[in-house]
Amino acid sequence: MTDIYTTKIAAAGPTGVLEGAELIKNGEIVAIPTETVYGLGADAMNPDAVDKIFQAKGRPSDNPMIVHVANIDQVDPLVDSISDTARALMEAFWPGPLTLIMKKSESVPSIVTASLDTVAVRMPQHEIAIAFIQSCDCPLAAPSANQSGKPSPTNAEQVYEDMNGRIPLILDGGPCRVGIESTVLDISGEVPIILRPGAVTREMLADIIPDVEMDPAVLAPLKSDEQPKSPGTKYKHYAPNADLVVVEGAEVAISRYICKAMMDDRRQGIDSVVLCYQESQRNYVGKTIILGSRFRPNSVAENIFNALRQIDQMQCTKAYVEGLEPEGMALAVMNRLYRAAGHQRIQVD
Ligand code: TXA
Ligand code: MG
Repeated sequence: MTDIYTTKIAAAGPTGVLEGAELIKNGEIVAIPTETVYGLGADAMNPDAVDKIFQAKGRPSDNPMIVHVANIDQVDPLVDSISDTARALMEAFWPGPLTLIMKKSESVPSIVTASLDTVAVRMPQHEIAIAFIQSCDCPLAAPSANQSGKPSPTNAEQVYEDMNGRIPLILDGGPCRVGIESTVLDISGEVPIILRPGAVTREMLADIIPDVEMDPAVLAPLKSDEQPKSPGTKYKHYAPNADLVVVEGAEVAISRYICKAMMDDRRQGIDSVVLCYQESQRNYVGKTIILGSRFRPNSVAENIFNALRQIDQMQCTKAYVEGLEPEGMALAVMNRLYRAAGHQRIQVD
């Protein structure tokens, strides 16, 4: 796609919000902050506007989008019906990083849902996102505001990196608090299934829906003959240009393995880096990127997409990341890392 816009970054105050809402009403697309990552929004009821998102992102047309709402009244026209389960989940976790997949109504354009009979809906927990949707006076279809395949942007500068020339406006609301995308929960079938883990963890969901399950594609690659439940999971995602490997096992063994591998790399003239934690950084002599504290997975989530972008900025061609036990918020982090690494995992003891 050729550049057609002069991309402006505006402070996400009342003036910026009004300017953006005007663009949305005219069928344009605008990047906005949410608590998870930045989104690229369009009027969900305007198929031509939604098509512009696919163009700007280079997104495959079979990958559906999340529709963002500012209140529960906006959900009614989008779905067949709101079940008791849906209502309980909304009450417990909205506004917040939980996307619910429900049977769609006739009125949602098929371009939004990639012709599926379900629609993904979420109410973001971000003052500006809510104010923006209210000003637009329509639900917003909004995927993450990255080029398709790249890590999701968690600040306005990263959106600019990916979208300069492709969109008219970025509302700058500062860095995103959560740092990874929402939990995607499919409640359209008999059993609720987590399709993408996020800050609303399996453990938190189980308090409301004890029968919740997790899609196997969350932690393992799909077999070649398998169709994913969430179309987005079949595409290469988050991957740096560098060759990334996840190293898992006991803390000491992980450090020992990566130190040795980096020394071997150096001997061969390979520029490598390790993504590690505050607690383990001192174990390394080569290049390091600190992800946060291994005891606070939320701090790791906050930095993870920055770190993946940084690997390439440091011009490293090989990267190692220390694995965490995949539970709670760390499950969401490991899901992104496994995918970024194309499921290259090494187990050490
Ligand atoms: O936190 C988030 O969810 C961010 C912010 C901007 O809200 N949005 C986001 O959107 O991450 P996106 O498009 O990058 O990821 C949406 C995921 C994709 O994997 C997509 O395939 C899946 O949700 N999805 C959307 N609608 C679906 C549906 N009807 N059935 C199954 N999966 C669906
Ligand atoms: Mg995305």
